[in-house]
Amino acid sequence: MRDKYKYIGPLYDFLSSIYGGEAIHNCKRAMLTPEYVQPGDKVLIAGVGHGKDAIRAAEIGADVTVVDISETMLKKLEAAFAKHPDDLKVRVVHADILKFEEFERYDMVIANFFLNVFGEDFMRKLLSHLVRCVKPGGSFVIGDFSYPSGNLLARAAQKLYWYTAAVIFYFASDNAVHEIYNYPVLMEAEGLGIKDTRRFSYLGMNCYTSVLGYKPA
Ligand SMILES: C[S@@+](CC[C@H](N)C(=O)[O-])C[C@H]1O[C@@H](n2cnc3c(N)ncnc32)[C@H](O)[C@@H]1O
Repeated sequence: MRDKYKYIGPLYDFLSSIYGGEAIHNCKRAMLTPEYVQPGDKVLIAGVGHGKDAIRAAEIGADVTVVDISETMLKKLEAAFAKHPDDLKVRVVHADILKFEEFERYDMVIANFFLNVFGEDFMRKLLSHLVRCVKPGGSFVIGDFSYPSGNLLARAAQKLYWYTAAVIFYFASDNAVHEIYNYPVLMEAEGLGIKDTRRFSYLGMNCYTSVLGYKPA
């Protein structure tokens, strides 16, 4: 398996902080609150990266499984867990998420800044696959770039901000360059209801949104 994050992976969270301040990190953890996650809940995080969200879920006492295809990213995640003052338990799976077939097992499935990596057809396939992993009555969370909204200038600024990152990651890790996805609409098309939405601003723009959908019981 070629590791597309071999070179940029070690710097990924550091670059996120430069590009989005704390807004990206806050977006990733937005729905990891006692309101939505109880100790013992089974939480799956797809394309986990350095794992700030995984750490928060484990701190709450969730039974956390993370999946990532990049060894480089998983090494950073494991280093972050080793540094944590508590002995947080997380199941780490080094795999392509499409080969991970634990359907209807998770109380919450999280895809933070993951689906934007892919072109639309493949992204839809991954989204369906991840929704299948959610138990009936469970939740599905996407934290990612906000769908452009507001006046013409605001929408243009949001698009410019996104395309800057998309082009950098196209060259750095072969990510797809595409329009910003409208995740609430995509989630509803998968049969999910939308329960909560949190927005995170940076540089005066509505840059990031975390959306929590639920799968009917
Ligand atoms: C843009 S990064 C986001 C990382 C993390 N979720 C975050 O919010 O910082 C995308 C992540 O998805 C992982 N990834 C890409 N394709 C994957 C696949 N098919 N299966 C599992 N992980 C994958 C990459 O290795 C990378 O860690």
